[in-house]
Amino acid sequence: MNTANVRPGDMVAVVGLGGVGLSCLLGARLAGAQRIVAVDLSDEKLGLARQLGATDTFNAGDPGCARDIRAATGGGVDFAFEMAGSVKALGLSLEILDRGGSVVTAGLPPAAATYALNHSNLVGDEKAIRGSYMGSCVPERDVPVFIELYKQGRLPIDRLRSGTLPLADINAGFDRLADVAAVRQIVAF
Ligand SMILES: NC(=O)c1ccc[n+]([C@@H]2O[C@H](COP(=O)([O-])OP(=O)(O)OC[C@H]3O[C@@H](n4cnc5c(N)ncnc54)[C@H](O)[C@@H]3O)[C@@H](O)[C@H]2O)c1
Repeated sequence: MNTANVRPGDMVAVVGLGGVGLSCLLGARLAGAQRIVAVDLSDEKLGLARQLGATDTFNAGDPGCARDIRAATGGGVDFAFEMAGSVKALGLSLEILDRGGSVVTAGLPPAAATYALNHSNLVGDEKAIRGSYMGSCVPERDVPVFIELYKQGRLPIDRLRSGTLPLADINAGFDRLADVAAVRQIVAF
């Protein structure tokens, strides 16, 4: 809503469905996106994305994933959100853009990671790439809005909650995140 300014009717893809990507999906829904294509390597995450409002789901591990998304969306999406923190996911996001489309990436891969861009394709198809840090959030402005949307049932962030754990189990909690078994966990003191 802030970085990309998705408009009602836009076609959106979210690549990577952890807490960040699923929040992006909820934002795309609020912004009125017409199609929300969810992409991950985990079929479990794709199932959760459907429950949260994804209209289409694709497994990034399928070799024909980019081709299938372009076919399903009539040439590609207006916005592809790279939310995995992986250079591969950035590449896929660029591949599934329609002409004039934008990739917005919030992923943070290892600091030395680089991506080799096809320069003439970027120009010929008028694509754009933009980074997003903390969703370009202005807390004083946005947090009250998030709270109000939550109260109205329009921002169901508790659906991202995978459980509660005591501080003593924090290491097991990190393992669950790394195994893609959890979306978001609450540490109870
Ligand atoms: N920009 C910011 O302000 C900000 C804030 C918090 C986190 N992050 C970064 O955002 C990224 C996501 O964070 P998270 O907490 O949701 O992570 P996560 O590990 O919970 O989720 C990542 C998801 O991406 C999927 N994935 C991995 N490789 C993929 C690929 N090639 N194609 C499709 N899906 C793929 C995984 O299966 C997983 O479901 C991380 O890189 C994190 O560091 C950025």
